[in-house]
Amino acid sequence: MNHQEKSQEGNITELMEFVLLGYGDLPNFRWFLFGLFLIIYIIILMSNGTIFLITKMDPALQSPMYFFLSNFSFLDICYVSATLPRMLLNLGTQRRRISLVACATQMCFVFTFGATECYLLAVMAYDRYMAICNPLQYPLIMNHRVCIRLVTGSWTIGIPVQIGQTYQIFSSPFCGSNQINHFFCDIPPILKLACRYTFVDEMLVYIVVVLFGMVPFLLILGSYSKIISIILKLPSATSRAKAFSTCSSHLMVVVLFFGSVIITYLRPNTRHSEGTDKVLSLFYTILTPMFNPMIYSLRNKDIIMALRKLLCKPLTF
Ligand SMILES: *[C@@H]1O[C@H](CO)[C@@H](O)[C@H](O)[C@H]1NC(C)=O
Repeated sequence: MNHQEKSQEGNITELMEFVLLGYGDLPNFRWFLFGLFLIIYIIILMSNGTIFLITKMDPALQSPMYFFLSNFSFLDICYVSATLPRMLLNLGTQRRRISLVACATQMCFVFTFGATECYLLAVMAYDRYMAICNPLQYPLIMNHRVCIRLVTGSWTIGIPVQIGQTYQIFSSPFCGSNQINHFFCDIPPILKLACRYTFVDEMLVYIVVVLFGMVPFLLILGSYSKIISIILKLPSATSRAKAFSTCSSHLMVVVLFFGSVIITYLRPNTRHSEGTDKVLSLFYTILTPMFNPMIYSLRNKDIIMALRKLLCKPLTF
């Protein structure tokens, strides 16, 4: 093993790089997976990019809701770009080695963007709650300054904690195998390789997941249950059905995202099976950013109108 060096302590070997196995256990599907993930990446870039552009350009889409959606589509692009390009490279070139520093950097970015994703989803749910349950005060409360603060807060809240957590995880020596049976540097497979796996490490992961996963999830569930109780009081059956279908599709994506995060990180370490982790993490790293634009935007009348306007512009000269 030329990539391991004996350290001074003697029995602990110090790893300099990991090997990300990715989907190496499915060699026959390599090019199929490459094509599939490439298409998914292109779909994510194009749909989120389109939403970002039209919410910035169309004067009809200048309310807080579209301000949040615009920033959210930008975030989705950042979030998938932390994992998918590396995974495509891995599948395409079979170059699987990743240095410790690159691995730590990837983990830090994934979890910082992930925390932003959780809080921005909560902000968007709160915005809908205010607009629907408090329509008279809504323009006063959700003024531009508050919107900027909420978004900036969502982007910065995770940074110090995630840097600290990544540092804590990578400050452990790694011994034994250097093979990560996963497609990115996620916490459970890295902790599995650490020689020092203490109560503190485990507690830290739990605290972080509760703060950045459970808390926003409960805020979202609270907002939506208030919204649904208002919807049920709507007089007309058709508007009730329509509002209900919008709400339930938002809730579905939210449950998919937070559900897979909570199951992955709140399971005790001994219960982790690598296969399950690899499938579950696809939901929160790749599938949710793919569904977000479809569920949050493409079901929205105003966005469809703006899109039509944009696409038909060259024809109306
Ligand atoms: C989203 O909000 C953050 C924090 O305010 C900001 O740094 C970032 O530039 C925004 N992104 C876009 C594309 O508006």
